[in-house]
Amino acid sequence: MELITTHANADFDALASMIAARKLYPGAKLVLPGSQERAVREFMSLSEDLVKIEYERDVSLENVTRLIIVETRLANRIGRMAQLVGKKGVEVHIYDHHPRTSEDVKAEKDVYKKTGATTTILAELIKRQGMKITPLEATIMALGIYEDTGSLTFPTTTMLDIDMASFLVSNGADLNLVSSYLKRELSDKELKLLAQLIQSTEIHVINSVHVAIAATTSEDYVEDLSLLAHKLEEAENYNVSFIMVQTKDKVQFIARSNLPFVDVARIAGVFGGGGHHSAAGAVIRDMNVSEARKRLIEYLRSHIRPDIKAKELISSKLPEATPDEPVRRVRDKIAGSNTEYAVIRDGNQIAGIAALKDLDKAISRGFGHSRIKGYMSGKIFPVKADTSAYTIQDIIYEKGVGCVPVFDGAKLLGIVTRSDLLRAFHARLFEKPRGKPSGRLYTLNLTSKIKRSFPKKMAELLKLIGRTADDMEFSAFAVGGFVRDLLLGVENLDIDIVIEGNAIEFTKRLAKEFCGSYVYHKRFGTATVFFPGGKFKIDVAMTRTEIYERPAALPTVKFGPIENDLFRRDFTINAMAFKLSGRGFGELLDPFKGRSDLKEGRIRALHDLSFVDDPTRIFRAGRFEQRFDFRIEPHTEDLIKKAVGLKMVDRTQKQRIREEIIAILSEEKPLKAVRRLAELNELRFIAPGLKLTKSTVNLFSSVDEALAWYDAARLKRRHGVNRWLIYLGALLDELSLAEAQKICDEFVFMKADCAKLISCKKTAEKTLSFLSKKEKLKPSQIYDCLEGLSTEALLLMMAKSAFQTARRRIMDYLTKYVNIKLSVRGDDFTKKGIRPGPHFRQVLKRTLHAKLDSKIKTKAEELDFAMRHFKG
Ligand code: CTP
Repeated sequence: MELITTHANADFDALASMIAARKLYPGAKLVLPGSQERAVREFMSLSEDLVKIEYERDVSLENVTRLIIVETRLANRIGRMAQLVGKKGVEVHIYDHHPRTSEDVKAEKDVYKKTGATTTILAELIKRQGMKITPLEATIMALGIYEDTGSLTFPTTTMLDIDMASFLVSNGADLNLVSSYLKRELSDKELKLLAQLIQSTEIHVINSVHVAIAATTSEDYVEDLSLLAHKLEEAENYNVSFIMVQTKDKVQFIARSNLPFVDVARIAGVFGGGGHHSAAGAVIRDMNVSEARKRLIEYLRSHIRPDIKAKELISSKLPEATPDEPVRRVRDKIAGSNTEYAVIRDGNQIAGIAALKDLDKAISRGFGHSRIKGYMSGKIFPVKADTSAYTIQDIIYEKGVGCVPVFDGAKLLGIVTRSDLLRAFHARLFEKPRGKPSGRLYTLNLTSKIKRSFPKKMAELLKLIGRTADDMEFSAFAVGGFVRDLLLGVENLDIDIVIEGNAIEFTKRLAKEFCGSYVYHKRFGTATVFFPGGKFKIDVAMTRTEIYERPAALPTVKFGPIENDLFRRDFTINAMAFKLSGRGFGELLDPFKGRSDLKEGRIRALHDLSFVDDPTRIFRAGRFEQRFDFRIEPHTEDLIKKAVGLKMVDRTQKQRIREEIIAILSEEKPLKAVRRLAELNELRFIAPGLKLTKSTVNLFSSVDEALAWYDAARLKRRHGVNRWLIYLGALLDELSLAEAQKICDEFVFMKADCAKLISCKKTAEKTLSFLSKKEKLKPSQIYDCLEGLSTEALLLMMAKSAFQTARRRIMDYLTKYVNIKLSVRGDDFTKKGIRPGPHFRQVLKRTLHAKLDSKIKTKAEELDFAMRHFKG
């Protein structure tokens, strides 16, 4: 007999791993030791008929030939089943994502992989063997992965977890059910305990690392302490935290860490527990809570060693100068080095640090010959070679400096800058081959391109933006699509500016300089300036970083250097900037090799989680690919497919998807992008049954023709028309009226747009059949039939019609009839003693009909015709 088991107090990853393991060991019994977490118990009580699981007390351990242990490798966590370990005739197999330790059960087969969940390891084996899984199995396994990876957001999440989650979703995993179990609310008891934990939290600074320790007591064993740990982490955002809860005879211990050098699995090991580098736990039986806390602090004091030290952060050798050297010479020294700073020495003393940014400013104002001592910062906060990166981070934030010098005794080793810190904390992100920024390295000057590409006014405006930023001591950059289009030679008058500084203050100043107006969004630090004449507008934002202040954990949006701002963007081709302020106007900043991707025609995401972070980028990728005739490169396409598989778009606000639909359908040739979305199975996010059929494709072509005719007839200026709405009508053509209405409501399209779409759906058939009649129709009949329909609806009907006659009649309406107006006015009639009343409109209508049918022409004829009918 074969048994599959896991650890006591089983969570979803444990349960899911057992279920997955049974696929690999089909005859095995699933046996749970001890209790389970509350949510798992609830789930099992609903699915017990479908998922047969036994409890250790009901199972005989005789005749067991193989024991399969999942989600743990420790004998003391598998209850009675531990008796089978080492027993003659019993083979042990282990599947676990916890790192191996010396305490592990000895096994004949031990499968370990560094993943966020054990279920992932087993799911991969199932997938490789091409086994079938039911939607229920897929859902339970997805629960395991989503729980242990915090819905794929914990730092322990790997690409394999994402791949396997995607595999399970494509096998029918129900994510609604997954989220309903994972979003469990806390009970009153748990809430009380959480409040106690928060109150009891002490912050200890141990070897520069801030450690939170919360300890309290509870009458009963806390079943789901890891959930409380998670809530505490969410509420307080600690980098390293420990929770201890004393119950009658034991202390429950949970540890969490976001720091690469604090391995909580080792710390939990001290108390007989285990886990991962970033999440671990133990049940302590031989100490009470205060003894355990004391032991913990002792251990941390001797073991926490921040492994990032100042000396490891120094990125380059610094140029040096004396206080009397001219600014320009020092600037040249910096420019010839790899850094942005120079150290100013006065004999053996460090007199100050000069920053490239400040020297550029001084030179642009004509102070290039002045002595550097007036332009350096004398605020120096020296650190030692082994000062921790965290202490340096505190100094940089608290003292408001951009860098600190590092000394080994009296010897200056170099400096550590904000960017050095960022790179150190997020080395993993920056190391990715696609996303490796090469520092603030300006690769090309675009000044002449700017002059050639833009109207003179625009080029001047860009210069003025730079000068305004200089005056305010900010740095300004043009970014995003504007830079991309400049390099491609495509006209784009939507200027996106980012400011290293206060964007709102900057906007106010800019609007003042130009006598323009502005609006701003305080919360996002963004603003828009409108210029008199209304030709162009400028969007201004502050450079943002979402990761700087706290490594990993919950990202905070903060003002940060331009490189960080570029790193949070979608594709390499959109992650370039050029400089507007300081010296070097027009210098291109291209840390992710966007220019070479532009040349090669590649759409490339900056990092692997780009589409998980922001699923609307899936639509954007298709849009840019088709607009520029580029190719989404294979790895990025893979990432998109995974995000699609994970139904990431389902979790995105419908309004954001609506904006993407509008953007795609506003492209010059939307069919190409729509085709791509259909290929990626993305159309189902608009409506489940929506397909790109042959007739929809043909209708798109007919809309192209109708619009081409409309443009050629130069009607555009007279009637503004939403091209995207016509294409949307074409895309939804095969859906029923009710389905189209549902889409309008769900995506909250504007009421007026919905009305146009729906009116076309309601009347198209009848209208087209009337207009297709062979017999002659009077202009007034055509007018009556089409009056009140929007231009969009008319153009869509034109495209839909199979008959030239109907198309011709709509064209006549749009080019001729719609412009025919009566010259007589209301007061022409009142002067003649006619009082306004219900008959008034009727008579005017008849008069207009007569004019449309060329029975009358002049104003006098109109008046005469109308008067006859008033009297008649
Ligand atoms: N961006 C992003 N992720 C998104 C949307 C936008 O990273 N989901 C960034 C890109 O750097 C983009 C910039 O914000 O270039 C501006 O966005 P937007 O104006 O929507 O796009 P453009 O690239 O200017 O494209 P378009 O030409 O279609 O306006």
